[in-house]
Amino acid sequence: MSLKHLAVSTFLFALAGASAIDKRADGGYIQNASGSASFTQYSGCGSPACGIPASGFTAAMSQLAFGSASGLGAGDACGRCFAVTGSADPYSPGFTGPFSTVVVKITDLCPAQGNEEWCGQSQSSPTNQHGASVHFDLCEDSGAAGAFFPSGHGALTGSYQEVPCSQWSGSDGNPLWTGACLSGENASIWPSTGCGNKGTAP
Ligand SMILES: *[C@@H]1O[C@H](CO)[C@@H](O)[C@H](O)[C@H]1NC(C)=O
Ligand SMILES: *[C@@H]1O[C@H](CO)[C@@H](O)[C@H](O)[C@H]1NC(C)=O
Repeated sequence: MSLKHLAVSTFLFALAGASAIDKRADGGYIQNASGSASFTQYSGCGSPACGIPASGFTAAMSQLAFGSASGLGAGDACGRCFAVTGSADPYSPGFTGPFSTVVVKITDLCPAQGNEEWCGQSQSSPTNQHGASVHFDLCEDSGAAGAFFPSGHGALTGSYQEVPCSQWSGSDGNPLWTGACLSGENASIWPSTGCGNKGTAP
């Protein structure tokens, strides 16, 4: 290979790398495969923002990581699976556990607006009021919350790690509308693109 040829292919490789990074940062969302997290629980998970409910453990994710906004449909987090681990109760600092790890699939959005305490992460302030980069609101209907939260402790801080969905148990339901998406379940760990991001990050 001539030197000139090598320089050109290096340049093309650099361009491909740059566009992959640009795509990942689409809309200013912050999507890291692991980091600090906080956890709460909710019920009524049957019509989630990704547009496809699931029968196993599911959760809603804070908007800055979810990758979409209310009314815009599926974000890039949709369908991805995360091992989540509790390590403290911010309201009972003396509580030492035992804590649990469960694997959840993301099917829903926790919007920043109206949920500032937990899901208010933004580009300018990327952690929430509990110091967490990503918030998971675990679905009670699917049993995720029951398996994760110690009795009497419904809000925790801890950590998360994206895992292949082969580690998740359950099955997907039927799409509720056109554009519904859970493609993150078959995508590589972030940074890769599954459903893609929509709109602009908070
Ligand atoms: C992203 O994850 C890496 C480890 O995987 C960690 O070192 C880094 O602090 C994380 N960044 C954010 C913004 O969470
Ligand atoms: C992911 O792959 C499985 C197995 O091939 C398939 O059944 C499922 O429909 C795929 N999910 C999506 C969202 O395409």
